Amino acid sequence: MIRVVLSMLCLVLCLPGRACLAAQPVPGGVNLELVQRLVGTGTAPSIEQLLALLPATFRSRYALVFDSRSLHGSSFANPRVLLYSEDAAFILSFNGEPSQRGYRALEMMQFDEARGEFSFQEISFPEDGPPVSEARSGERCAACHGLPARPIWDTFPTWPGAYGERYGARLSAPERDGLTQFLAGQRSHPRYRYLLGIGEYAQPDAFHPSAKARYNGAQGEPANARLAVLLARLNFRAILAQVRGASAFDAFQYALLGTLDPDCGALEGLVPRTVLGRFSVAFGEFAAAADKANARQSEFKEYRTLARRPARTSESNTESLDKFRYLAEQGLGLPTGNWTLALEKNTFDFSLLEPARLELEALLFEDLARSDPRVRELRSLKQASGSSRYCGYLERRSHAALLAWVKAPQANPGRVVQAPLTTPAQKGPPPVLERCIACHVSGVGPAIAFDQPSVLARRLREGQYPRGSLLDEIRYRLSVEAGSRRMPLGSLISEADRVALELYLRSLAEVPPSPTSQAGYGAVDGMVLGGGGATAAPARMAAGIKTARRL
Ligand code: HEC
Ligand code: HEC
Repeated sequence: MIRVVLSMLCLVLCLPGRACLAAQPVPGGVNLELVQRLVGTGTAPSIEQLLALLPATFRSRYALVFDSRSLHGSSFANPRVLLYSEDAAFILSFNGEPSQRGYRALEMMQFDEARGEFSFQEISFPEDGPPVSEARSGERCAACHGLPARPIWDTFPTWPGAYGERYGARLSAPERDGLTQFLAGQRSHPRYRYLLGIGEYAQPDAFHPSAKARYNGAQGEPANARLAVLLARLNFRAILAQVRGASAFDAFQYALLGTLDPDCGALEGLVPRTVLGRFSVAFGEFAAAADKANARQSEFKEYRTLARRPARTSESNTESLDKFRYLAEQGLGLPTGNWTLALEKNTFDFSLLEPARLELEALLFEDLARSDPRVRELRSLKQASGSSRYCGYLERRSHAALLAWVKAPQANPGRVVQAPLTTPAQKGPPPVLERCIACHVSGVGPAIAFDQPSVLARRLREGQYPRGSLLDEIRYRLSVEAGSRRMPLGSLISEADRVALELYLRSLAEVPPSPTSQAGYGAVDGMVLGGGGATAAPARMAAGIKTARRL
């Protein structure tokens, strides 16, 4: 730390606003505070100058996004760069072409270990004037990153839009061509030339690690997977912090730990009937809803990849931590729809290379073992003498704590915290319109007056969008075929909500409902595209691929 401060003192001797030719990269770790200081003191008056000052180790870890869904424009030749620190607790992002959206803005994310929270921040570098730092976790970031904010990096085994989007597969032809374009200009590019180890991207094994590379450990994993694992770890810390902060945590902690241990299993064993009986949803129903949401997420995600085709594997290996989330939602009153790294909210895919629950289990275990050493003792005996003593102990402690909690006046389980999946029919704008307003009136997305019915009514029939009028474009954007351009960006809406929105917009524009209104854009033989579940998926996918085209 002292070294960093000293080197900073040397650096600020450079004239503000001028390139510091003598500037040496700062040693040590990079974080939000360092970047803010370098920019704030005028040492790094531009993104290029900042990059020159960052240590080599930091400039050698990155993912490259050629089709970003963020505030940064991107392309094959000028991808968005996500530079990440060794544990990904700090991420810095920029893109590479002056005409791209967000070219003059640096985006950052930092994980605060002590608070178990992610914060997001943007610094913009206007052409005329000093850099401007946005307030932390501003609303602009929350529109996509949620509140509490979390990273969005999608889930194993695909990261649509990032080079090497399919885990363990060779690069597709468009990716290979795109990467060639990018590499051709990289060495002389004002920003990309600071990326080190770019040669790795030219290696055939970079995205499809050989058995040997894999054998040598995580370093052999491609950048996207590495980032996914690191972010998932931090994300579990954030989840644990949130869970610990809930008022009923003490009563539920033994049960929560038990749900994550593959040996301890059954919910009925861990939670007394009287407590389960007070929950508003049965576990079976809860788990079935999660399966359905995950199936849709994986379908939508596949449509965001270049291939736009369904995954070959089934969803059955998706890890959704159902029992743990069930207790968090029904017992602690915490919504969990924002808990994964998936772009689509209200989905529950935590899958990692290794079973994800073990990561979370280890964190929760360490936490509990600090106050109850007996837990550590019994767990260490598991290997030798079986799990029954350990699980039995968790069950007994859990029952005692929960029965005491149920009797306490403040106990209030069973509150439904998740937004209902479908909304009842009603007059006026459907509630889902609020989501469109949240981004399209605030400047996150292109301005569309979703909040002014009379203006919107006129606009809907006009416009020269790729699919015709604004109304036509919206209908397309609401369908699964829109792939990476699907709206509402970052969330799944139910089929009923989609239909309600479309009918509302049609009546506003005084366009009579078409026979396909109910069925959705591109509906074939009454089959609903983007509708619930994975049934009839192959036919639907085939139809979608025919009609859909990238914008
Ligand atoms: C329009 C939606 C959207 C908004 C608004 C948004 N982001 Fe993101 N952000 C994304 C997406 C999508 C990703 C995943 C990578 C990608 O597609 O570029 C992402 C990724 C990131 C990452 C890399 C870590 C991660 O989450 O994967 C950082 C850092 C980041 N955003 C910072 C910000 C900051 C700072 C703001 C507010 C100024 C912001 N973002 C606002 C969509 C958004
Ligand atoms: C989280 C932010 C977010 C939400 C929520 C959102 N949008 Fe968008 N929308 C964007 C961004 C960013 C773009 C620009 C990128 C693109 O074209 O995909 C966009 C583009 C569009 C476009 C194309 C506009 C143009 O000028 O090309 C339409 C139409 C649209 N959205 C409709 C909707 C509708 C309808 C909803 C609500 C159901 C919605 N959006 C919800 C962020 C959002």
